[in-house]
Amino acid sequence: MIKHTLLPVAEFYQRRNDFIAQMPENSIALISAGKEVTRSNDTEYPFCQSKHFYYLTGFNEPDAILALIKGDKSASVRSVLFSREKDSLQEVWHGRRVGQKQAIEVYKFDNCFSLAEVNEQLLPLITGKTAVLICQHEQNEFQQQVLNWLAEIRKAARTGVKAPTTLIDCSGILNEMRLHKSNAELDIMRQVNIISGAAHQRAMQQTKTGKFEYQIEAELLHEFATNGARYPAYSSIVAGGDNANILHYTDNDEVLNNGDLLLIDAGGELAGYAADITRTFPVNGKFSPEQSTIYQLVLDSQNLAIAAIKPGQTLAELNRIVCNFLTEGLYDLGILKGNLTVLLAQRACKKYFIHGLGHWLGLDVHDVGDYHASSKREQLRAFVAGMVMTIEPGIYIPNSDKSVDEKWRGIGVRIEDNILVTATGFENLTVNAPKTIADIEAVMAH
Ligand code: GLY
Ligand code: MN
Ligand code: MN
Repeated sequence: MIKHTLLPVAEFYQRRNDFIAQMPENSIALISAGKEVTRSNDTEYPFCQSKHFYYLTGFNEPDAILALIKGDKSASVRSVLFSREKDSLQEVWHGRRVGQKQAIEVYKFDNCFSLAEVNEQLLPLITGKTAVLICQHEQNEFQQQVLNWLAEIRKAARTGVKAPTTLIDCSGILNEMRLHKSNAELDIMRQVNIISGAAHQRAMQQTKTGKFEYQIEAELLHEFATNGARYPAYSSIVAGGDNANILHYTDNDEVLNNGDLLLIDAGGELAGYAADITRTFPVNGKFSPEQSTIYQLVLDSQNLAIAAIKPGQTLAELNRIVCNFLTEGLYDLGILKGNLTVLLAQRACKKYFIHGLGHWLGLDVHDVGDYHASSKREQLRAFVAGMVMTIEPGIYIPNSDKSVDEKWRGIGVRIEDNILVTATGFENLTVNAPKTIADIEAVMAH
């Protein structure tokens, strides 16, 4: 059995303290867990915890509420969890519950009550505070619940009770904390990258003309789950031929044809953390001359961008480097036509490189965190050590593009790695998913 590192409880405890340190005086933050989502009738999708809630707790049950309190200095209760109570009948049917006693012991909350005790136990904690902090971007239902609690407290105003008058969105604080990864988080992200890289390698080895895209998807899921990443971090994209030119293709139900490329964008999730890897390779194991030309262009552009990653670098600058390189390359191939200087100024490659170069990665695949330097233009935020991002250039030439020579049509290539910014440069976390033409063809030959 493969045993993976999980984050130590002390790390979640420390995060709560770091968060509280950024709360205003005399305030309370209310963060809700995720809810189970019905798939159909009485079956649910696999439960996915709210990532902000998970980040602060490590607690994986639905419906819970975390209250973080910044009161006067003497107050000893700073974190209170409200969670489902133990229920032997429910647990026989649906699975074990942590319960309140264990939540305190194992997860190190200062106190824990059942959800049935919310009105009795939570309203006194809110009463008298100046501000309530909530995550306003998610869960309208919970926001409404908080407003209802405030209204409830205001009903007692004549007795001298004061309800908070300020509602603050604390997403920004959490987004910023999550953007900077700790060593323990990075260990998990390295592991999930290795599992996901192995899945890509397995997919290459299992791909054969005549198989269906979903069969290759099954190979990916098998490799994720067998190695402890039970679920994919997002729906796997397994796109043969022209399907690669649909960016978020997830139908995965077509046959793989001899002579086509296969684009796979897939990553597992481990202890909540995502990998996000894309590889593109020939169904029959051998790149055609046109496929290898486009592939090598994309790969060279990716290597250029990765090599430029270091503290102080920006995503805007990496985009500029890649865009210039791809525009020149596509011009040399006759795919972009006209005056090169004009094409460069127009960023003409964007006709074929139709998405961004990368994004933050962490608990979410498109992770939280601001991309902009304050008051400056797009994506000018300077990198610092501990940030993790994807670098994923692509060239997409759909069959329907009659402006290019027929030989290029139906080629869609994306190559995506996960990169950590280090003190001196970068570390590529995607170490075992074959990427050069020679490595891919060698892996597929076995
Ligand atoms: N897998 C989604 C993305 O690459 O952004
Ligand atoms: Mn990505
Ligand atoms: Mn991806």
